Amino acid sequence: MSRKFFVGGNWKMNGDFASVDGIILFLNQSGGNDQVDIVVAPPAPYLTHVKAALKNNIKVAAQNAYKVPKGAFTGEISPAMIKDLGLEWVILGHSERRHVFGESDALIAEKTVHALESGIKVIFCIGEKLEEREAGHTKDVNFRQLQAIVDKNVDWTNIVIAYEPVWAIGTGKTASPEQAQEVHEWIRQFLREKVSPAVADSTRIIYGGSVTAENAADLGKRADIDGFLVGGASLKPDFVKIINARL
Ligand code: G3P
Repeated sequence: MSRKFFVGGNWKMNGDFASVDGIILFLNQSGGNDQVDIVVAPPAPYLTHVKAALKNNIKVAAQNAYKVPKGAFTGEISPAMIKDLGLEWVILGHSERRHVFGESDALIAEKTVHALESGIKVIFCIGEKLEEREAGHTKDVNFRQLQAIVDKNVDWTNIVIAYEPVWAIGTGKTASPEQAQEVHEWIRQFLREKVSPAVADSTRIIYGGSVTAENAADLGKRADIDGFLVGGASLKPDFVKIINARL
């Protein structure tokens, strides 16, 4: 089954108007790529500006959203607000939300269910820490993180899974294509057993963690790697090479 390649750019907490406009410029000049779903996630204050300026059918995602539509939750934004801005996507479960801000599997699952019910698609991130990999727990950790949404009976057509080993994020230590493919294959097998063969075949599983213009083509050739979630390199013109890695 063919799955459309998906390349996300997670800008994290980086940028100001000048640098954001620089990114918009190279993305608009890139001409896009009809074979690839391209989604960039600017910090919340720049969402509307980026959405208004981007061409080439490049979509915009929020980097986070809470589990209810509105209320006394200082500092949070809701899927209803993301929808109100005309956006379609949110990133949830990113390792920085899990490990810097202490978000649990249960909270991330609630947020995922609420985003989907609000009509927002989810880039659902999972991944093991270095000590978990070294202790032989890679499979258990990724399966546990996924099980939290399997238990909620979610609509898989609106989810992209991003496998982002924590040890590879922002470290320059990319998982080798073999390491990444191995985990992606496990994830697909997990979906086959716990959800359905159809969901396993159709769900995009993308890789994140020190993806660069140099390593993207090799990673992108692997059978179960359906794209990337890119941090640092998504702030630079090289991101266009990553979008076009399969050309
Ligand atoms: O969400 C993307 C990510 O965490 C990877 O970041 O900078 O290693 O590409 P980076």
